[in-house]
Amino acid sequence: MSEILISHKGTYNKDISGMKELAGDILVLEKMSFKHPWTIDNISAELAKETSLCMASFYGNEMTAACCFSRTLDEAELLRICVSPEHRREGLASVLLDLSLKNLATIGVTSVFLEVRKTNGPAIALYKKHGFCTISERKNYYGDCDALVMKRNM
Ligand SMILES: CC(C)(COP(=O)(O)OP(=O)(O)OC[C@H]1O[C@@H](n2cnc3c(N)ncnc32)[C@H](O)[C@@H]1OP(=O)(O)O)[C@@H](O)C(=O)NCCC(=O)NCCS
Repeated sequence: MSEILISHKGTYNKDISGMKELAGDILVLEKMSFKHPWTIDNISAELAKETSLCMASFYGNEMTAACCFSRTLDEAELLRICVSPEHRREGLASVLLDLSLKNLATIGVTSVFLEVRKTNGPAIALYKKHGFCTISERKNYYGDCDALVMKRNM
């Protein structure tokens, strides 16, 4: 798989030379979005994996949102989704999720899982809006917070 949707171009880019720049753009979003952001090595490794589906949206040359899934056979896991703070509540996460889920369905994925901080209201609302249901909780999963495990059947 290892596909990256460059949404302003509307094409899939599998060109390895573009990966470094994309990883750098994702790192910027990560740092703005998470207390414990992925490192450039984490991001580069995900982009390079055959089992990853990463998508991003752009406004001009600025990356405004990104998400990354990992696939194993007919299951996938949403690893990350983040939107630049000044572009939140514009529907970007919804667009990326919809596109990713459609892509995953076409390659035979039948269920998608994710873990989310129990205190992350915006993300939980986003996932519920896109058909995810809570199936279990993991106590103290993040050290300082419980996790909800959510699942969506395709
Ligand atoms: C969670 C996040 C990805 C949402 O991105 P977004 O582009 O703003 O979301 P959308 O505009 O597509 O919103 C879709 C739905 O999500 C929910 N939602 C999003 N932000 C919300 C907020 N601040 N409060 C309540 N609900 C929210 C709403 O149901 C919304 O639908 P609506 O606009 O019709 O009410 C974004 O807030 C973010 O990047 N947060 C930091 C990173 C993070 O926590 N990622 C998730 C864990 S991996």
